This record gives sequence, structure tokens and C-alpha cells, in this order.
Amino acid sequence: MQNVIILGASGNIAKHVIDILVKKDDVHLTLFLRNARRLRNKDVSKCRIVEGDVLIYTQLTEAVEGQDVVYANLSGDLEAMAKNIVKAMDETGVKKLIFISSIGIYNVPLKPVLKPYRKAADVIETSGLEYTILRPTWFTSVDEVDYETTRKGETEKGSVISQKSLATLIAKIIETPEQYTRENLGVNKPNS
Ligand SMILES: NC(=O)c1ccc[n+]([C@@H]2O[C@H](COP(=O)([O-])OP(=O)(O)OC[C@H]3O[C@@H](n4cnc5c(N)ncnc54)[C@H](OP(=O)(O)O)[C@@H]3O)[C@@H](O)[C@H]2O)c1
Repeated sequence: MQNVIILGASGNIAKHVIDILVKKDDVHLTLFLRNARRLRNKDVSKCRIVEGDVLIYTQLTEAVEGQDVVYANLSGDLEAMAKNIVKAMDETGVKKLIFISSIGIYNVPLKPVLKPYRKAADVIETSGLEYTILRPTWFTSVDEVDYETTRKGETEKGSVISQKSLATLIAKIIETPEQYTRENLGVNKPNS
């Protein structure tokens, strides 16, 4: 049994990931979010739901303790969130982190809106964690799974990615984390 916690479980991509993971008998899901009423999934009966704020260190550490994988699906002050997450994972000995950032964070000049995404990635990369950072292109709600990845240092490709594709990749990383350890991947729909 793999213990997986989703931080920001009411988010758009998290919703799709939850729908995939609740069907797996070998995953025990903890959904961490500020307000449980914002969960939009039909069936979360098998999940543990924890109300909390990633920026409140004690709440985060308590929730992260005992997990095998932390998947962060967050928006807001991402640098402060990343710092808290790394600290909480270091303190509790949890190693595997999946963190959604954004396309464009290594562009020069860096768009001001992307600064928090870049800073969060920098914090995570300088940690000792077994992280996977994802840099998706713009989301669509198209019902398809079609994606490719680029590695850090390669030119990012494409302009869009379906939410379902990104969620499928995240579920795959959760299933086989060792394949994606210390990777920082662009994600896009091929030829988009
Ligand atoms: N939209 C795009 O095309 C696109 C493209 C590339 C990357 N991205 C980025 O990809 C990431 C995931 O996207 P998404 O659409 O799934 O994001 P989203 O729907 O905005 O979800 C982010 C979640 O973070 C939660 N959150 C914010 N502050 C929190 C805190 N202090 N403690 C706990 N939870 C907190 C929010 O919960 P509340 O319900 O409590 O507010 C929300 O559910 C985001 O960073 C997004 O900016 C988006």
C-alpha cells in the first residue's frame, strides 16, 4: 500500500488525479485542502480528508508524516509553499515530491507572473528530495490523453496540454516514482 497526499486537493488537476487514484486498491489517498467543501469529486469515500493550509507548518508536517509520496497541486505564494514542503518532508523523512510549476520558468527575461513558479522550482532542486517538477503548457479541458515531455535544458515544446493528460502523467509518476526521480519535465500535447 502506497500512502499518497495531495496538497491543494480542490485544484483542477488534482480533481482528475483523484479520479484516477481512487480506482487503485494499492493507493491510500490523503486529500489536504483548506476547505473540504471545495472538493468536486464524486467519490472520495476511501480517502482521508485533512483540512489545512500549506503555509501553516504544523498542519503541513502532521499531514505529511507517514506518506510515501507528496503531490503538490498549488497556486499562490509558491516559493513559501515549496520551502514549507521541503522542510516538512525533511523533518518527517518523506522523500518523493511531485510539484506542478509552469512552462516558461527558464525564459529570459522571466515573465513577472512566473517568478513564484521559478523560485519554487529552485527551492525544490536545491533540496535533497526525490522530486519531479512538471512544467506544463496551458491547460485545456479536452477529453484526451496525449502528451510528451521535454527534459530540463531542452527547448520547451507545444502550447497546450489537456488536464486529463497531465493527471495521467502524475498518476504514472506516483505509480513508478523511481523512473522520474530528480527530473524537471516540460509537458505538452505533441504538435500543439
Ligand atoms: N491554467 C493553466 O493553463 C496552467 C498552465 C501551467 C501551469 N499552471 C499551474 O499549475 C498548477 C495547478 O493548476 P490547477 O489549475 O490545478 O490549480 P488550481 O485549480 O488553482 O488549484 C490550486 C489549489 O491550491 C490550493 N491552495 C492555495 N493556497 C493554499 C494553501 N495555502 N494551502 C492549501 N491549499 C492551497 C487552492 O485551494 P483553495 O480551494 O483553498 O483556494 C487550489 O485548490 C497551478 O500552480 C497553476 O497555476 C496552470
